[in-house]
Amino acid sequence: MIRTRLHPDKQSAAQAIAREIADLIEIRSKSGKPTVLGLATGSTPLPLYAELIRLHREEGLSFRSVITFNLDEYEGLGPDHAQSYRYFMEANLFGHLDIPKSAIHIPDGRAADPAGECAAYEAAIRAAGGIDLQVLGIGRTGHIGFNEPPSAVDSRTRWVHLDEVTRKDNSVFFGDLAQVPHGALTMGVATILEARRVALLAFGETKADIVARAVKETPSAGCPATWLQRHQDCTFHLDAAAAKRL
Ligand code: GLP
Repeated sequence: MIRTRLHPDKQSAAQAIAREIADLIEIRSKSGKPTVLGLATGSTPLPLYAELIRLHREEGLSFRSVITFNLDEYEGLGPDHAQSYRYFMEANLFGHLDIPKSAIHIPDGRAADPAGECAAYEAAIRAAGGIDLQVLGIGRTGHIGFNEPPSAVDSRTRWVHLDEVTRKDNSVFFGDLAQVPHGALTMGVATILEARRVALLAFGETKADIVARAVKETPSAGCPATWLQRHQDCTFHLDAAAAKRL
């Protein structure tokens, strides 16, 4: 079952989730344990990342004991490309924190052997002890990470073909649809479901339909976010507009 939590606006949602992350880091670091975070890109988590940066700067929250795994990366885009997720994460989060560079993991969209890269990514998550908290957004196709329909419940980190709806939605960042890659590397649905806790964020009316489908439809590969209903500890953090069809 998916829990839904309604927030007055996206800033309040960001504050609540950032506090949850800060508490997790503080509790785990007191007993000498790392905190493993799964992170997402897109416009939705930006207020959350801004709040984490504020907690670091103004309230002394340290990320020295944090290990991160991002969900996905575009095929062919390296760290210097302004639309690569590696670049995005550096600009919007990592570059402002004290997280060790070696603790940051993002699939390499330029890997010569994508299957090998994906297997190594799964192994690195396991070696870190698994993901404590996975942050997610949701695409209008029902994708989580870049798990486009159809994505099976047992899918693992792999190369995927991007849906045209997704390419069009993301073309606003590239300025031109032709520049948007056709493929990506993404954590699989099974990889995401293994995280011990999941926090999905969705704000605004454009997400209302897909949020309602994810929460209410019978789980199926045709709407990958529905698989989250099988998770034991998954919360959708919503504003009123995104929750209006629930
Ligand atoms: C992108 C990312 C997803 C993200 C989604 C929604 O393509 N791969 O991880 O959740 O699309 O993006 P936005 O938050 O900009 O609506």
